[in-house]
Amino acid sequence: MTNSSKDTARLTQTDTARQLIGWLWRKFLSKHVALLALSVVFMAVEGSMMGALSWMMQPMFDLVFIEGKTSALWWVGLAILGIFIARAIASMGQKILLTQIAQKVAARLRTQLLDRLMLLDNAFHQEHPPGYLIQRVQNDVNQINTVWSTVITGAGRDVIALIVLMSVAVSVDWKWTLVAFIGIPFLVLPSLIVQKFVRRRAREARDLGARLATRLDEVFHGIIAVKLNRLEDYQSRQYRELTDDLVKTEVRSAAGVAAIPGLIDMMAGVGFLGVLVFGGSEIIAGDKTVGQFMTFFTALGFAFEPLRRLGAVSGQWQVAAASIERLKELLETEPKLHSPAQPKALPVGHSDIIFDDVHLSYGETKVLNGASFTAKAGETTAIVGASGAGKSTLFNVLTRLVDPQSGRVLIGDTNIADLKLEELRDQFSVVSQDAMLFDESLRENILLGRPRITEKQLMGVLDAAYVSDFVKKMPDGLDTRVGPRGSGLSGGQRQRVVIARALLRNTPFLLLDEATSALDAQSEVMVQQALDKLSERHTTLVIAHRLSTVRDADKIIVMDKGRVIEEGGHEELLAQNGTYADLYNLQFTTSGPTAEEVAKRRNVPKVKQTRPRKSIWAKMMGRLPRI
Ligand SMILES: Nc1ncnc2c1ncn2[C@@H]1O[C@H](COP(=O)(O)OP(=O)(O)OP(=O)(O)O)[C@@H](O)[C@H]1O
Ligand SMILES: [Mg+2]
Repeated sequence: MTNSSKDTARLTQTDTARQLIGWLWRKFLSKHVALLALSVVFMAVEGSMMGALSWMMQPMFDLVFIEGKTSALWWVGLAILGIFIARAIASMGQKILLTQIAQKVAARLRTQLLDRLMLLDNAFHQEHPPGYLIQRVQNDVNQINTVWSTVITGAGRDVIALIVLMSVAVSVDWKWTLVAFIGIPFLVLPSLIVQKFVRRRAREARDLGARLATRLDEVFHGIIAVKLNRLEDYQSRQYRELTDDLVKTEVRSAAGVAAIPGLIDMMAGVGFLGVLVFGGSEIIAGDKTVGQFMTFFTALGFAFEPLRRLGAVSGQWQVAAASIERLKELLETEPKLHSPAQPKALPVGHSDIIFDDVHLSYGETKVLNGASFTAKAGETTAIVGASGAGKSTLFNVLTRLVDPQSGRVLIGDTNIADLKLEELRDQFSVVSQDAMLFDESLRENILLGRPRITEKQLMGVLDAAYVSDFVKKMPDGLDTRVGPRGSGLSGGQRQRVVIARALLRNTPFLLLDEATSALDAQSEVMVQQALDKLSERHTTLVIAHRLSTVRDADKIIVMDKGRVIEEGGHEELLAQNGTYADLYNLQFTTSGPTAEEVAKRRNVPKVKQTRPRKSIWAKMMGRLPRI
């Protein structure tokens, strides 16, 4: 199941409009109640001015045009001018106020979303790709923003306009008014159907938008892979298919939104015809003046406009509701991994790290399978083993990026699950395979917002991590921007920046996951020295494939299929002649054991030697007639 279809499934139980508006009100709008009230006053003025204008038709026609009173000309004219000026001021005022509220609400919503998303677990982020989340934070908030302003303006201004205009119409003749609006109740059922349709289409459109954003995000992040694998056509096709779907869905949704005003227009036509036939005869009979008729018709003409807009509001609301639902759901998603209600204090001083029978699986895949070991305080413990053995996962468990299904991880005698999450993570500096840099200056990437670092301290760290070497060659030195994800630096430079970060953090524990893998032999020696110096003062866990880097570790543990199969010092493990010895010999002795010897030592059955088979290609060629 794709993410988006999962989403649709989860969101089928639609929140009612009242719940959504209630939520939006409580969380965001209620903070701006004074400004909202003022903008509603402006809207009321704007809305009622059309009623006033239509009301002025009566004196204009009866006194000025028919009776020809010049004195009335002035006051009627000035009153109409006043009405337009009041409308202009009110309209501007409400727009400014509403934009202000809308922008503030959007900003708050975005910040809250980001805070919540940063809080959510890795599992959540694996299920929801960055593009999808960016779409939520940017576009869905925009949707809400524009639409709820339209809805509020519509509901505020247009409802008031409608009430005033209807009152004017009723004041002229209630029977005419009844005739004019007689068709409206027949619109209720179709409009409910259309609303459902629009909500569904809007949801589809949002999902497609998120998938489009995800694809863009993947293409731009993986632009080099796209080019090198010649994926341009493939990506372009995939993107085009999605955009085609989006076009269809958006057009359908817009058709739905436009359907209600369309129906209202038709009803308006019927209403006008009815009143003309019904009311015209009364004027001819002399029961009503032309002025009264004009006032009624103007009020009616004006009334259908807000009515059309209100008809559209319900559709627009459905579009916004699709976005609000999603944002509400995101904001209400709780992280599964969190600090305990009553966190314990961390043990003082350096402590051992103990893994005790830790089991962890991702779905059916067992990754840690009873991992147990102790990393002694102040020592360096190396973790080696085949790719996929679960080494990095140990670090993820230790920093609580993921919780194991069973077993305990202790710092000293405190279970890490009993510690405050932030405090736990403050204990570790992690230098990993993929050095994570932000698109900021080198300086910011190293300081990461820590203001109390002196220039001298910083320089010391830069020297120790061999960052100074390449900073000198950068155009703006430490103020050079490193590009998205540090793409302006080489892999080795990025790793050195991350090492500098770790030096500066100066935490009790140092976790190195292939920290020097991207360095050339010369820099590796230098950085290794820096790390060695650092590990002297820290409890260090180091994962390495290159065994030369772990030879001097106080203890080496060998992982295989999620458990520790050997542990001890380098010499000790060599003497055991087990997996470590095999790995070591493979890496360091040119006359090391052959694959066959390794298999024999591990009691792996020897692969039966058969005569090399002809490849399918050779067979096919053999069948072809010789030319
Ligand atoms: N988030 C995840 N979801 C599903 N499976 C995962 C996840 N993270 C890791 N795995 C699986 O767990 C296993 C162990 O991964 P891990 O990264 O710990 O290996 P490793 O020993 O560090 O390997 P390497 O030396 O290649 O870095 C792998 O088979 C991997 O597919
Ligand atoms: Mg790894």
